[in-house]
Amino acid sequence: MSGWRDCRGWQRALTREPSSECKTPEEMALFELQNYLAASGCGRQVGIKTDPSMDESFQISESDGGVLIRGGRRGVLYGVYALIEALELGESLPKGVRTPCYPLRMIDCWDNMDGTIERGYAGRSIWFEDDAFCYEPDRIRRLGRMLAGAGINVLCINNVNVHMPAQQLPGSLLADTAALADLLRPFGVRLMISIDFSLPLQFGLESADPLDLRVSDFWSHLAQNVWHAIPDMAGFLVKADSEHRPGPNAYGRTHAEGANMLAKALKPFGGVLVWRAFVYNCMQDWRDTDTDRPCAAYDLYQPLDGMFDDNVILQVKYGPYDFQVREPVSPLLVGMNNTRMGMELQLAQEYTGQQIDIFAMPPMWRRLFDEMGKEKVSAVAAVSNLGRDDNWTGHPFAMLNLYAYGRFAWDPDTDPETVIRRWSALTYGFEKDLTDRLTSLLMESGRVYELYTAPLGLNWMINPENHYGANPYGYEFMVWGTYTKADRNGVGIDRTAKGTGYVSQYPPQIRHKYEDPQTCPDEYLLFFHRLNYDFVMKDGRTLLQRIYDDHFTGYELAEQMAETLDKMPFPEPDAGVIKERMEKQLENARQWRDVTNTFFYRFSGAADAKGRKIYS
Ligand code: GCU
Repeated sequence: MSGWRDCRGWQRALTREPSSECKTPEEMALFELQNYLAASGCGRQVGIKTDPSMDESFQISESDGGVLIRGGRRGVLYGVYALIEALELGESLPKGVRTPCYPLRMIDCWDNMDGTIERGYAGRSIWFEDDAFCYEPDRIRRLGRMLAGAGINVLCINNVNVHMPAQQLPGSLLADTAALADLLRPFGVRLMISIDFSLPLQFGLESADPLDLRVSDFWSHLAQNVWHAIPDMAGFLVKADSEHRPGPNAYGRTHAEGANMLAKALKPFGGVLVWRAFVYNCMQDWRDTDTDRPCAAYDLYQPLDGMFDDNVILQVKYGPYDFQVREPVSPLLVGMNNTRMGMELQLAQEYTGQQIDIFAMPPMWRRLFDEMGKEKVSAVAAVSNLGRDDNWTGHPFAMLNLYAYGRFAWDPDTDPETVIRRWSALTYGFEKDLTDRLTSLLMESGRVYELYTAPLGLNWMINPENHYGANPYGYEFMVWGTYTKADRNGVGIDRTAKGTGYVSQYPPQIRHKYEDPQTCPDEYLLFFHRLNYDFVMKDGRTLLQRIYDDHFTGYELAEQMAETLDKMPFPEPDAGVIKERMEKQLENARQWRDVTNTFFYRFSGAADAKGRKIYS
């Protein structure tokens, strides 16, 4: 394998850089096909036929004379990548018409124009630096190939916490955004931008009230400018009334009024307005036990169901908190029947190891789609894990999450193990038994991380400054509504009807499972219940013993992972990075195990039943 700068990874089979000559996905499809056929010497006759009515779909058919890829303008490119993958993996070619389940398959980048990335773990922004656009066009084309190869079709380029020199938005900023859009268009990737709800104020208006005609005129005018420069712009993304961001509440307006006003401005151009539902009281007094943060989004948005315009997508984080290692699927995703919904995942490993610790997400996504029901949403988004690091994602294995996300967005019935195996085989090309070993290690990686960090739904025992590393009381007396309430008797929040009532936001069949600690899955136990340390779990162990055992087991499994990885022949430079990060992961796991176990030991005074060392 050549160096990372070529970004071969799971697209190693494409040896030539994507051509700057190609202006459309159809041209790119032809280029990529020839690129592959020439390099692989596979000797097959492959033709491409565009049928615009097929849009993003494709069909690959084989006959004696060769292979034909028929598809829409973007579909043919997806068809070519699907063919290449199948041939590389030695699989039979995909059968039947392939159509993505969700028309909007987004990556949300939290890139700031100064070049930093909020919650970024792979270096600086790929396209911003010094408050301006700044990139290598070749690198953007490689990015386009990577996104299209995964099946992703929208890229939101800036942080939801918008830091932009707004005055330039109608001018140079727009011209530069248009130039970036040109580079990604041949890959079927359209752009989106995050906007600030109070933007009209920055242009001299006295208000940003969504019901003020001058405000709606302002947005219509801006939308006209934007779509004039970038006719295939996908839409705007908005974080409003959330974590101190401006929003319609300041004017006594609802979120439906705020979102619809913007949506109407975008409607003539076919744009969508993605409105984030990450709204809660971020100035909570920890003494206030009536407010329970996970209840917030459902309480706010459920009464608005059916009131959003049809080009609004309500984008909801997968769980009711905030991208924790394990949260039940948000009740809002289950309970809105008359609103276009989008589920927001997070590839950036903010709470899941920061691209140091290994955390393959497909098993988590399988669970979330199963809990939610794939038909509940019409769009999916994921916070990006990309950056300017040579290998794009910091940890080479973090690339798996990007690839697999694209596969889930295309087909939410995706089997986690299959997608991990395919990525492993495409990326490293090992013999079958090594690929199997890597696949099972990655399949287990999320559970291992969960065991040594936050088993049984014990969220938020983490360093508040950077969201990495053990800190059991870090969030306990803060304003964020993130409490575990550990004391000498027990831990957890009672979210049943007797407690905060959160569980009532779910329909009965889900509610019944969670509201009884006897039927509640262990992984969610302390999310839904407050229990004493001597509570006897389904497997006969006490809660306290399970907390100890899980942390010990998590560390042991991490050690085994390190041993397994040590014996695998990863090529450089991957090998060095994998080793170095695994060492840090082990340090992290050890610290997390000991800090958490000591924390509970000091409270409970009860030793480990198996006599293992718990520091006091
Ligand atoms: C998390 C994250 C913030 C981010 C926020 C969001 O809280 O830590 O950095 O701004 O999510 O999703 O808006």
